[in-house]
Amino acid sequence: VSQKLNAPRGTADVLPEQAALRRRVEETARELLEGAGYGRIETPAFEATELFSRGVGAATDIVEKEMYSFDDGGGRSLTLRPEGTAPVCRAYVEHGMHKLPAPVKLYYLGSFFRAERPQAGRYRQFWQVGAEALGSEDPAVDAELIVLLHQLLTRIGARGLVLRLSSLGNPASRSEYRDELVAYLVTHANRLSEVVRGRIEQNPLRAFDSDDPSTREVMAGAPRLLDRLPADDLEHFSEIRALLDDAAVSYEIDTTLVRGLDYYTRTVFEFTSDDLGGGGQSTVGAGGRYDGLVELLGGPPTPGVGWASGVERILLASSAKPGPPAPPQLYVVHDGARAAAFQLALAARAGGLRAELELGGRSLKGQFKHAERLNARFVAVVENQSVSLRDRERGTERTLGAAEVVGQVQRDLGA
Ligand code: HAM
Repeated sequence: VSQKLNAPRGTADVLPEQAALRRRVEETARELLEGAGYGRIETPAFEATELFSRGVGAATDIVEKEMYSFDDGGGRSLTLRPEGTAPVCRAYVEHGMHKLPAPVKLYYLGSFFRAERPQAGRYRQFWQVGAEALGSEDPAVDAELIVLLHQLLTRIGARGLVLRLSSLGNPASRSEYRDELVAYLVTHANRLSEVVRGRIEQNPLRAFDSDDPSTREVMAGAPRLLDRLPADDLEHFSEIRALLDDAAVSYEIDTTLVRGLDYYTRTVFEFTSDDLGGGGQSTVGAGGRYDGLVELLGGPPTPGVGWASGVERILLASSAKPGPPAPPQLYVVHDGARAAAFQLALAARAGGLRAELELGGRSLKGQFKHAERLNARFVAVVENQSVSLRDRERGTERTLGAAEVVGQVQRDLGA
């Protein structure tokens, strides 16, 4: 006997019971986002590795240790996409979308890949639904996107949501702040955890993320980025807040909010849910502004803002339960008249009915049992010249010509 094979660690099969839930997320996202003028974009599942090392940042966890990279056979390095923002900006530049009226509003839904340590809510292949708006600095774009994500999460039924919001300012003010923070961390280096101490120069902001008690004490007294924002960034931030207040979307200002990707400028935000358990996995969706990214990828200077949300995490945070697919409206039973039964099932589907045909080689009795198990409303028993049609809900039965069955079922369903 050959050894059985399983799906790779950190991946999962989506079975029909779960497919309905995912479809609901997809349909809700489409309704909300297309309703706000966002058009669907699909980028390839893999890209040049350089897109992510340049776009997401060479010193980020994603690029340093979570990418599935491989040689394309011709000496070029490709990577399974770990996120969607850099690919969308690449496509924006490649297709000259800066010539379109701004902002260009795009959304996507698909698989993403990160070689992370798998646990509940954290997978190596996961789905993201994401939205990006390119070409406008207007704080109303930030606010609109945050409201849309909030609506998506609440419509799907995500529980215990908290919105955390902050602003990182512009690259110059951030770099001044960074120097100030580095100096502060160096002064208190002996009280920092080894990991944090090891990356003071490389990634000082991540120190706010540490769980180490002594590090947390030091960080409680550390200078805060929000207190060092230039006036125009502060103004931008306060306009977003005012718009969110008007929209009755509540939020917490979190001055220590750090995102794991390097491209952010100004606005950053995260929706967390208690229902996902603690740790990094409590983030259901997150995003922010990335005003320098398009230029970094070879395009004209173009502001941008967006978010992405993990579909598995949205479902984990919601009370939505998997369920069986909708039952057939018509089940076609036959005892020998297979060709006529086959034709009837096709005609029923052409008439817009959910219809199934007996395909399991069951006895007549077994076929009726199966129709019951499927909970089909109508059962058509096909004989050579005629069809007897049973309505299982009303408990009626009548004999019809084969050509009359579909119309009869449609009428009875409408009644
Ligand atoms: P991110 O915070 O890396 O941001 O991921 C966004 C969301 O994707 C997370 O909040 C989480 O729900 C989901 N997610 C991430 N990694 C995993 C995983 N291993 N397993 C399951 N779900 C996961 C981005 O990806 C940015 N591109 C968001 C963005 C768009 N910023 C601006 N525009």
